[in-house]
Amino acid sequence: MKDAAPKTIYLQDYTPFGYIVDDVHLTFDLAPNATRVTSRIAFRPNPDAEDTRFFLHGEGLTLISARINGEEVDPELSPEGLVLDVPALPFIWECEVEIDPANNTALEGLYMSNGMYCTQCEAEGFRKITYYPDRPDVMSTFTVRINGDLPVLLSNGNKGDSGEAWAEWHDPWPKPAYLFALVAGELIAHPGTFETCTGREVELNLWVRPGDEGKCAFGMDALKRSMRWDEEVYGREYDLDIFNIVAVDDFNMGAMENKGLNIFNSSAVLASPETSTDMNFERIEAIIAHEYFHNWTGNRITCRDWFQLCLKEGLTVFRDSQFTADMRSAPVKRISDVIDLRARQFPEDNGPLAHPVRPESFQEINNFYTATVYEKGAEVIAMLRRLVGDAAYAEALDLYFARHDGQACTIEDWLKVFEDVTGRDLTQFKRWYSQAGTPRLSVQDDWDDAGTYRLTFTQSTPPSVASPSPQPQVIPVAVGLLAPSGEEVAETRLLEMTEATQSFDFTGLPERPVPSILRGFSAPVILEREVTTEERAFLLAHDTDPFNRWDAATALARTTLNDMALHGAAPDPAYLDGMCRVLGDDGLDPAYRALMLALPGQSELAAAQADAGHRPDPMAIWTACETLRQALAEQAAEMLPALFEACQVTEPYSPDAEQSGKRALGGALLALLTRLDGGARAEDQYAKADNMTLQLSALGQLIRAGKGDAQVEAFYDQWQGDRLVIDKWFMLQVVQSTPDQAASVARKLTEHPDFNWKNPNRFRATLGALAGHHAGFHAADGSGYSLLAEWLIKLDPLNPQTTARMCAAFQTWRRYDSDRQALIRAELSRIAAQPGLSRDTTEMVTRILG
Ligand code: ARG
Ligand code: ZN
Repeated sequence: MKDAAPKTIYLQDYTPFGYIVDDVHLTFDLAPNATRVTSRIAFRPNPDAEDTRFFLHGEGLTLISARINGEEVDPELSPEGLVLDVPALPFIWECEVEIDPANNTALEGLYMSNGMYCTQCEAEGFRKITYYPDRPDVMSTFTVRINGDLPVLLSNGNKGDSGEAWAEWHDPWPKPAYLFALVAGELIAHPGTFETCTGREVELNLWVRPGDEGKCAFGMDALKRSMRWDEEVYGREYDLDIFNIVAVDDFNMGAMENKGLNIFNSSAVLASPETSTDMNFERIEAIIAHEYFHNWTGNRITCRDWFQLCLKEGLTVFRDSQFTADMRSAPVKRISDVIDLRARQFPEDNGPLAHPVRPESFQEINNFYTATVYEKGAEVIAMLRRLVGDAAYAEALDLYFARHDGQACTIEDWLKVFEDVTGRDLTQFKRWYSQAGTPRLSVQDDWDDAGTYRLTFTQSTPPSVASPSPQPQVIPVAVGLLAPSGEEVAETRLLEMTEATQSFDFTGLPERPVPSILRGFSAPVILEREVTTEERAFLLAHDTDPFNRWDAATALARTTLNDMALHGAAPDPAYLDGMCRVLGDDGLDPAYRALMLALPGQSELAAAQADAGHRPDPMAIWTACETLRQALAEQAAEMLPALFEACQVTEPYSPDAEQSGKRALGGALLALLTRLDGGARAEDQYAKADNMTLQLSALGQLIRAGKGDAQVEAFYDQWQGDRLVIDKWFMLQVVQSTPDQAASVARKLTEHPDFNWKNPNRFRATLGALAGHHAGFHAADGSGYSLLAEWLIKLDPLNPQTTARMCAAFQTWRRYDSDRQALIRAELSRIAAQPGLSRDTTEMVTRILG
């Protein structure tokens, strides 16, 4: 494998498959080490295809027999699949293969988790189940028979006949193979029903391992709310008689939208107040919605090829964020999404892994399930909606569903419905799909005494390997103006920027206004504007746009932290005063105040410093954050106890926005208070906590204060039977360690008997947490780098997908000083030199090294 030159696939090389699949019949004879898969597939020549070569993907399969129209055939096999001469008329392909699910550690194809059979086929896992044209533009109905002595046997679609140790399923909706799913095991259903808008009754089930029955109610409720919401907001009705969700412990990602049979990482669906935090509940609600929404945006309308991944992912992320905004607080959701975008997508877009929302080449598609495709992909749709307006967006979506139902589509198809509905030319807008990199938007303003205020914007995107000469993009800039008195003098106006430099005038103003630019984060860009501390403090106090008001707080924090870290400055009183005012403002939603209090991520601060031409020192950044938090705690000392009291919830636990907002603010206040009271309140909260949110936030503060040893032990004893809670226990100890300890804490945890490194959740809880501990991971002695590299090397042969994904921890390496660069380069080279390194990890390491 190592010596074979890595093969690059290009978007421009797309050609349709030479054959159409009319029907697929699959029979599974389940056995852990020798599962037989028998397929019977009706093919006919595709009149639209030029290439008539009959190639079926297949990997790691033992071919037992193959027939065409009942006649035994002898195809030519390769590690990627088989080729065969076939008739130029419709024909039946029959084939029997054997696979070994019990030894499938890559968690792709058919594998086993805790004795249960399950599948993950996206993107290219079906080829590990049987020979097939494993590409999303080949769509077919599927009939599946499962033979296995297990109580629950599930596949896609509607139930067929069943009997002792067998069951049949039929999916009437043509689908690509990546949406195939099979589950078999000892599972328990948490049942439900849903009546659709046309009065059809749908059977719902959430399938879990015995013992997890008590963690299903919230997921089921979230599913029903998602189904209703998609009917009400997008007019989309569910289209089968049954919808099943299964929770699986060993899963590479969050969840998967297989038709009628969604498979979830158990961490993304199981919830109870005692074991899950408010944030877990919110994430679960969003992922259930996301996978459900895929039924229309992904399944009924799918992707022509994997370059079009954002067609379904960007749109579905956009839809699930609309859902969360509707269920909870829209401003809080918007701010959380931007925090996430800046933390995960911006580093990707501004480093060696930068790629367009629609990439143009790849070696391993699993490496492109990225924040750029998903989250920037969703931002692009949010911009499109802002530009065309809500009504035209709704019309375009109706047209999209009407025109493309049952098809495998492209971004061109998607944009065309908007062009047809609005008459707009979206040629320039399309650059958001084809250009990598985050545009920088700089701003200049002018005031003339005739009452005209002029804003001049200049955009520029740093060149990258993926986009060496970026062109100007369409940037919707939402702007409002405030009078010096604090009153809004111009409501939000959407400026549509298309040129490299462009001016916009606001006329008839009585005095020079203060601008509030990029309201609601109207475009995924980096705003570069010299703003005085006074002006930021003014916006923090007066901006009517909740996003920009929050952003003024983060900008103040960023400025003072960078001054502290780079120049040894003292904490800026403007920040401390502003925060005290925000804290005491009862008119503000507690969840919003909690977000205001949070400091920018330390990696994000490092990025801002590097952007400004400095070499960030992770330890100096960490110290600045500690100092600023301590200073805020001291300045707010008098008000904190009463505020903390006001955040105590007396009603029975509910994960709703109101209660979780109070607990979020309470947690932020506890973090400040623990810096003053030596941990007394945290100990008290830990002792009394009857839900995981309070228990975990108290434990975190105690660990951080160096006073949590007893509670760390007690927590483990209390929860050792609950793998999802123990994941939190692993993670928290790393997250809350001091920079000099982070790597050794993580290393010690990898020696714990419960460190099951083959489980992706546990692996990420430990080593992902280390990678996320900025100052700890970047410890000057290289201990963070070497520990991560050591484990990635160990995991790669078993699970390339999770390994490759975690290599991204190294993507920011060029920001740092030459010593750190040398240390990281050495680790990356060590990984790259492993014999037999997977295609996934090879591609990532190669791209990161550049
Ligand atoms: N389509 C799934 C989702 O809802 C993610 C599947 C990711 N699979 C993978 N092999 N990368 O977002
Ligand atoms: Zn998705």
